[in-house]
Amino acid sequence: MNEAQRLIAEARNVAGKSYSPYSKFRVGAVVIAADGTEYSGCNVENAAYGASICAEANAITTAAAHGVREIDTVAVTCLDGEGCTPCGNCRQLMREFGVNRVIMTDESGAPVEYPLDKLLPMSFGPDDLQSSRSVDQ
Ligand code: THU
Repeated sequence: MNEAQRLIAEARNVAGKSYSPYSKFRVGAVVIAADGTEYSGCNVENAAYGASICAEANAITTAAAHGVREIDTVAVTCLDGEGCTPCGNCRQLMREFGVNRVIMTDESGAPVEYPLDKLLPMSFGPDDLQSSRSVDQ
């Protein structure tokens, strides 16, 4: 099993914890921080649908809560449906923490990799603000 397959297997595992009673679409994500530490998350829905949280957002914000400010890789997969690609909001969340590599799955469940700049071209990020964020904030 290569690294991408291992990450997708872990994403499938955390997708099993998904709280998705409305969509019944279970998603899991794993992020690898720049220091190699891994964090995972699943989607967590809400009766007020707009308050729902994607799996990638859960994993990224969990990493941030542990002090992570640089993320190298995000892997995402779902248990109910033929592959899933990150929503626009999650691509922007990835942009904030410098994600390079996004791993998702094709219809057969095999890992496929894309650089974030291919999924979010001409993006707006921290460097585009006059007062760019400090790594301490
Ligand atoms: N979802 C994710 O968690 N990540 C994605 O990449 C696509 C969509 C969730 C949001 C919602 O809970 C459910 O999947 C259906 O959209």
